[in-house]
Amino acid sequence: MGHRTWGGRFAEGPDRLAAQFNASLPFDRALWREDLLQNRVHARMLKEVGLLTEEELGAILQGLDQIQQEIEAGTFPWREELEDVHMNLEARLMELIGPPGGKLHTARSRNDQVATDLRLFLKGAITELLEALLAVRRALVREAEKHLEPLHVLPGYTHLQRAQPVLLSHWFLAYYEMLTRDAGRLRDARERLDESPLGAAALAGTGFPIDRHFTAKELGFRAPMRNSLDAVGSRDFALEVLSALNIGMLHLSRLAEELILYSTEEFGFVEVPDAFATGSSIMPQKKNPDILELIRAKSGRVLGALVALSTVVKGLPLAYNKDLQEDKEPLLDALATYRDSLRLLAALLPGLRWRRERMWQAAEGGYALATELADYLAERGLPFREAHHVVGRLVRRLLEEGRPLKDLTLEELKAHHPLFGEEALPLLRLETAIHRRRSFGGTAPEAVRERLREAKREVGLD
Ligand code: ARG
Repeated sequence: MGHRTWGGRFAEGPDRLAAQFNASLPFDRALWREDLLQNRVHARMLKEVGLLTEEELGAILQGLDQIQQEIEAGTFPWREELEDVHMNLEARLMELIGPPGGKLHTARSRNDQVATDLRLFLKGAITELLEALLAVRRALVREAEKHLEPLHVLPGYTHLQRAQPVLLSHWFLAYYEMLTRDAGRLRDARERLDESPLGAAALAGTGFPIDRHFTAKELGFRAPMRNSLDAVGSRDFALEVLSALNIGMLHLSRLAEELILYSTEEFGFVEVPDAFATGSSIMPQKKNPDILELIRAKSGRVLGALVALSTVVKGLPLAYNKDLQEDKEPLLDALATYRDSLRLLAALLPGLRWRRERMWQAAEGGYALATELADYLAERGLPFREAHHVVGRLVRRLLEEGRPLKDLTLEELKAHHPLFGEEALPLLRLETAIHRRRSFGGTAPEAVRERLREAKREVGLD
């Protein structure tokens, strides 16, 4: 620090702040493994094409091994004044092995270097996320299976008003479908970002006889990127990952919210395991679902990351600009947030205690079976709109009298419409309503069982 010229009276103060402001080391240290790998592969390529001697390559690889040991042992002399992880590793290499270390950066720039590191890092991070996602998807499938026997039924809601009864297993599998698509989005993103920027150099390629196919292959990329400006200047791969993380977190926030709601005294459908809740310091009766609330809230942070990076990229001229250094913090934070949320849910879901009786009562109440009666009339030839009207009147009457649907007698039904007959009465039982919905993707036990069989196969649980 202090070696740059800011000029005039502000030489000391602003310079220190500027260096700090400029440095990415505090967060790009996370890329050290990828940077080391890239250094090794780049050095081997330089030797292949005759830009390094055998001895120079040997010295470089040895120096890089030592750097790895130092980092792992926690003795590596990180220096923030060297700005970033790339300069730190390179400077240390020169300290350790002298002049050959200075040849490593031949035919490369930090611009292609950082883009390469980040893509390598994301490939690993996505693989880790897919494992965490798989654990949650398995938990959802297990819970769906567990609650088929005995059958757990709860009200399905629209507008948060009790609408029609559904199986708890069907509800679990709804989230399973969402999370399965989330996994698909991450796989797609990983597939698309699997190309190597290395060798694009600063922005225009290089006059050195490098072999980009060699480095791409050795780094495990599908191919080298085809345009050097694009290779160093684009971050849509990071935006795509963030978009996938955002959608994934939105799904987790909905799941968390439903569990929070269902665990209230008012709903009373489920109890959150103690290990994932806290008491209140002042109100002894309380059990707060903190972890679920945080998952719900942290989806905001991941959306924030997506918005932040989108704004950085918007209107940015080609190719590399320092603005792009701002890609890392949102990305790293969003990855960790999503990963931790997934891990917590995988641990929490099996510990939920579902209160079958309460859910059953709620599904029977609230006139959630009114549709059955309307369907009944429609099946007997009454236009559905009219049937809807007839049953609406009936429900209004019951509401006024404060009586539940299952109180209805055959006489009362007949008084409302002559098409009502004896077979209408069993429709007022929950089981009947559930079993009738056998349409593909519906909530009838046999439909749910069929999907469950496939889902088990998809997550390797069969
Ligand atoms: N720390 C920088 C970043 O993360 C590395 C690339 C710097 N390149 C440059 N020309 N200053 O983007």
